Amino acid sequence: MKRSSIIAAIILVLVFSGNAQPGQPDTGRRWWKEAIVYQVYPRSFKDSDGDGIGDLKGIISKLDYIKSLGVTAVWLNPIYSSPNDDNGYDVSDYRGIMKDFGTMDDFDALLKGMHQRGIKLVMDLVVNHSSDEHEWFKQSRSSRTSPYRNYYHWWNAEWGKPTPRYSLFDVNHDAWKYDSLTNAYYLHYFSRKQPDLNWENPVLRQEVYDIMKFWADKGIDGFRLDAFQFAAKDTSFPVFPEGYEKQLSKYYAMGPHLHDYLKEMNAEVLSRYDVMSVAEGAGNSFEDAHNLVDENRRELNMAYAFDGVDIAKPEGYSLLHFKNVFSRWDSAFASQGWLSVFLANHDQARMVSRFGNDSPAFRDLSSKMLSTFIMTMRGTPYYYNGDELGMTNAGFDKIEDYRDMPTLNEYQHQKDIGGDLQQFMQRLQFECRDNGRTPFQWNATANAGFTTGTPWLKVNKNYITINQSAQEQDSSSCLNYFRKLVALRKSNPVLVYGKYTLLDKDNPSLYAYTREWQGKKFLVLLNFTARQVIANTGYNITNARLLLGNYSSALKGNTLRPYEAAVFQLK
Ligand code: NOJ
Repeated sequence: MKRSSIIAAIILVLVFSGNAQPGQPDTGRRWWKEAIVYQVYPRSFKDSDGDGIGDLKGIISKLDYIKSLGVTAVWLNPIYSSPNDDNGYDVSDYRGIMKDFGTMDDFDALLKGMHQRGIKLVMDLVVNHSSDEHEWFKQSRSSRTSPYRNYYHWWNAEWGKPTPRYSLFDVNHDAWKYDSLTNAYYLHYFSRKQPDLNWENPVLRQEVYDIMKFWADKGIDGFRLDAFQFAAKDTSFPVFPEGYEKQLSKYYAMGPHLHDYLKEMNAEVLSRYDVMSVAEGAGNSFEDAHNLVDENRRELNMAYAFDGVDIAKPEGYSLLHFKNVFSRWDSAFASQGWLSVFLANHDQARMVSRFGNDSPAFRDLSSKMLSTFIMTMRGTPYYYNGDELGMTNAGFDKIEDYRDMPTLNEYQHQKDIGGDLQQFMQRLQFECRDNGRTPFQWNATANAGFTTGTPWLKVNKNYITINQSAQEQDSSSCLNYFRKLVALRKSNPVLVYGKYTLLDKDNPSLYAYTREWQGKKFLVLLNFTARQVIANTGYNITNARLLLGNYSSALKGNTLRPYEAAVFQLK
């Protein structure tokens, strides 16, 4: 082979291998950077058999709809066998399918149907913890000498009480649960039915890699690593300072050897398949985030940071803060590393109710404006099902209507400690994650066309007016606007890779920025308020080409109407 052909071959390998070489910046094009990920919450998407719970056959029946959105990948929340303490985030068999959701044949058909439509499938990987009903845990708790004992974290009672650890989901917030069978405590950062796996154990780690290979061999296209930043623990269990639970991530995230585990996972599984990987959480600093995702480190492809979604509060939020957070994250990853962009998921209340304005006058406009933001930022967009319709918080006012386990536990906890239950209920209406989990609103028939039975969680009453079927008929609906946004991003890699520059920085009502790449330049203007706002971007849009806007008439001049969004091409 001639020297020039060898060099050309090396370049080809570098370009298509999916991994930059050590020490090289992460500027290459990758399918997972260009992906538009649509998150499907299976329990609430579509029920095919009338038991009130969404299922795989239901998703299959809606694949043409998903395809019609133009999205290129689906992230599916856990569908594995599970006793459902935490809606599938408590897995009892990582190679089985939850009975409520169907069978492995259904799964195979779903995957095939997605691939036939050019849609990739990203699966949730829940391995910070398993279910207490997993065979591993049953064995582990059976005896102190079980070969599975070390799959979990145990503390023998004769050593005294273990050092306090806070549980996010437990009714008492105690992360150690005493188990009389072997006179020992086990650790659970989430609920007591979600015991934490012991990543220090190499046998456990191999088990996880085998599970990952099982799914990758089936042909899935990626993994979303649930709560993985918590997976590594200092197993000497040092005492944390008082009040540590108020900054839990500082003490729980990025524990010893986490990067070793990820490097091992990458070598054993991720690098051997064309799969993408995304971590829930991005550590406690930009440095942590870089250490998780920089391509030359060979760990993960991307992470999602919570700083953005954490901004919305019942009392409102400051756009200056919002701009600051997203701009800082962008600039920290301008030349190295890759992140995701999102404003909602199954752990959040609805995007339009938190960040926009869900009153009838502005729901549609503000929802389109927020979608414009997500689809024009740098990073891989993760878009939550139902947001394309502008679905809103249900805001249930009775505790009996909620299903979310940590919410019900916290309600009990507040009762036990004599907390202010009225205030607690008000907070739920704004931020409980059940708001984002109400059944998908397909049409105006009973239960929004989600099920013929009784839905596991009440349907939002507004389904009569907000539903997919109605929005299909309306060319200016949120749904059809979302399709245009997707098409715009797909045909303009400048929106994926382009340099981001914030404009009119101190404007408290307007978010304006340019995206620039390979001679193309786009200008994005977003009014985050219900008032008119004047844009001071330094650009004259008179001669710019309006690519998309959320009003029926084009933006002219510098005054944006309430919640107006507009995307211009400058060059
Ligand atoms: C994060 C998941 O997104 C959430 O739904 C779940 O409750 C916890 N991790 C525990 O798995």
